[in-house]
Amino acid sequence: MAQQEVFASVLKEKRVFRPSKSFSKNSYVKSMREYKKIYRDSVKNPEKFWAEKALQLDWFRKWKKVLVKKGDFYKWFVNGKLNVSYNCLDRHIGAGNGSKTALIWEAEDGKVKKYTYSQLLKEVSRFANVLKKYKLRKKDRVCIYMPMIPELAISMLACARAGIIHSVVFGGFSSDSLKDRIIDSKAKLVITCDGSYRNGKVIPLKQNADLAVGKCRSVKKVIVVKRCGNRVKMKKSRDLWWHQEIAGKDIKDKFNAVSMDAEDPLFILYTSGTTGKPKGVLHTQAGYLLYAYQTFKWVFDVKDNDIYWCTADIGWITGHSYIVYGPLACGATSLMYEGSPMYPKPNRFWKIVDKHKVTIFYTAPTAIRALMKEGDKWPKSCSLKSLRLLGTVGEPINPEAWIWYYNVIGKKRCPIVDTWWQTETGGILITPLPGATPLKPGSASFPFPGIVADVLKENGKRAKPDEGGDLVIKKPWPGMLRTIWGNDERYKETYFGKFRHIYLAGDTARYDKDGYFWILGRSDDVIKVSGHRIGTAEVESHIVSHKAVAEAAVVPVPDAIKGWVIYAFVVLKRGNKESDRLKDDIIEHVAKHMGHIAKPEKVQFAEDLPKTRSGKIMRRILKAIAEGQEDVGNVTTLADPTVVDKLKRERIQ
Ligand code: PRX
Repeated sequence: MAQQEVFASVLKEKRVFRPSKSFSKNSYVKSMREYKKIYRDSVKNPEKFWAEKALQLDWFRKWKKVLVKKGDFYKWFVNGKLNVSYNCLDRHIGAGNGSKTALIWEAEDGKVKKYTYSQLLKEVSRFANVLKKYKLRKKDRVCIYMPMIPELAISMLACARAGIIHSVVFGGFSSDSLKDRIIDSKAKLVITCDGSYRNGKVIPLKQNADLAVGKCRSVKKVIVVKRCGNRVKMKKSRDLWWHQEIAGKDIKDKFNAVSMDAEDPLFILYTSGTTGKPKGVLHTQAGYLLYAYQTFKWVFDVKDNDIYWCTADIGWITGHSYIVYGPLACGATSLMYEGSPMYPKPNRFWKIVDKHKVTIFYTAPTAIRALMKEGDKWPKSCSLKSLRLLGTVGEPINPEAWIWYYNVIGKKRCPIVDTWWQTETGGILITPLPGATPLKPGSASFPFPGIVADVLKENGKRAKPDEGGDLVIKKPWPGMLRTIWGNDERYKETYFGKFRHIYLAGDTARYDKDGYFWILGRSDDVIKVSGHRIGTAEVESHIVSHKAVAEAAVVPVPDAIKGWVIYAFVVLKRGNKESDRLKDDIIEHVAKHMGHIAKPEKVQFAEDLPKTRSGKIMRRILKAIAEGQEDVGNVTTLADPTVVDKLKRERIQ
């Protein structure tokens, strides 16, 4: 749905859904009154609030100061020492919960594997010993390029245990994208897989990794999990099989968790920004862990017997915070699914819910829309009665999809938490608390305790209700990014450049007269395709790297399922003929170099692009053309206004 349509429908949206009495009674935060009190106190003195919450974690040494500020850089729990994997594993075992299921994994073919907390600790410790054997030390970087298999979570936790910084790269990214990320983080070791399953097919992951690693001098070893049994080339002296390494006689079951400084880096996760190069968002130990812990506990209202399932890929922040770190820090049972929602049929998600008696289900609006399109017969063929709470993340949810989710999946019984956050924020910032908040479909509602969110106009003044503007966060919070890996300047400029000392989210939002926040979409050159962040500049530079292309500009256009898709205007080099084959070739070129998620949906050849006299491409006009708008706005500043009509005539429907 287009941003304007979302805006129009949310403006009309008046329905309010309250949690049932029984849900509220059993939840952590039971009413709006209670939320308001907690919120008021938390923002009056955030340091006190977070310090109290931090006592729930296990510390090797307590912090001396809760918060230290230096310009736009923040440190939390200064001088404190802990270990994230210790908090996610040993702590629960110590409390007598070693036999509780930590992870449930379902393979695409339906096979299930479960790990108790004790079993998971053993696997994590053994793998940490493998990393140690290959001389990986505190603060070294390891790149993890894997599908959704348990070894992915085990690798992350093993890194955390040994104090190694992990950088997970989504398995759907191309070898070029992987290479760029390895080079930027100077990873010494890569963990990958022979192949991954998607819709019953094997995707040759190791082959991609080989192409990337071949160009990265920092990488000394590659550890390969055997998942699909497809043929792979193992490079002698560099490549090692996971199953052989982990079974080594010299590998022990125990690995003492390394004592980490609260502000030591935990992981880097790359995400798209306004300029071409992806940003390595850096999260640190204690603040991130606490934030993931506390938000998971209150937003998902998790109890001891819950079976929680987040459908995201761990290659994205949602999987980091709400499949691995948040749930495990809370001692919950987290389900991980390997494959596609449509495989073998569109009822796969609902079948998994029934099979494992999932109680809390967290997914993306794009998945909801895609499943809704398949018709009600699929969810109706399943019982879904174990569900008690639903969640969404990644993009605005249009009220129609919300209502379908509420009625057909939640059977009008389950609150929906529409959670707004970002890779940079580490965890959820704006969200309902399910036992307290009356829900308005399409609104992420209110800030989490400790979070001071606001909407500002261009002049820095607060927007009035329903006026709209830039979404900002006015005070630091423990889960916030600490910097962009190797680029403090870009951190300051991107997030604190527009309004002094105020975090700029890069989203447009409004709040209504009741104080509910409504997120309207990105305000920068980032496109959300199926909830994934794609930088327009990055796609453009990949298109231009095609040998036949002289120039390119991409813009988002609305799509009923994916939210947005990429529409590309391409100017060819002289001597190249426009053809459908060339279009397909350009699309494939982007897929190969960046990954399938970045593929333009439509490519329009153009003789020229609308530019100002100083040569700046007017994307606003291109967007209007791509959307098929008759009136594309003011064209008087263009060097050659006649290009507009031609582009309009040749628009791809
Ligand atoms: O535009 C917002 C959108 O996703 C962006 C962050 O993307 P990413 O870093 O990939 O993290 C996604 C998962 C946390 C935001 O700037 N977004 C995320 N959640 C919502 C949302 N937009 C509207 N409503 C949401 N609930």
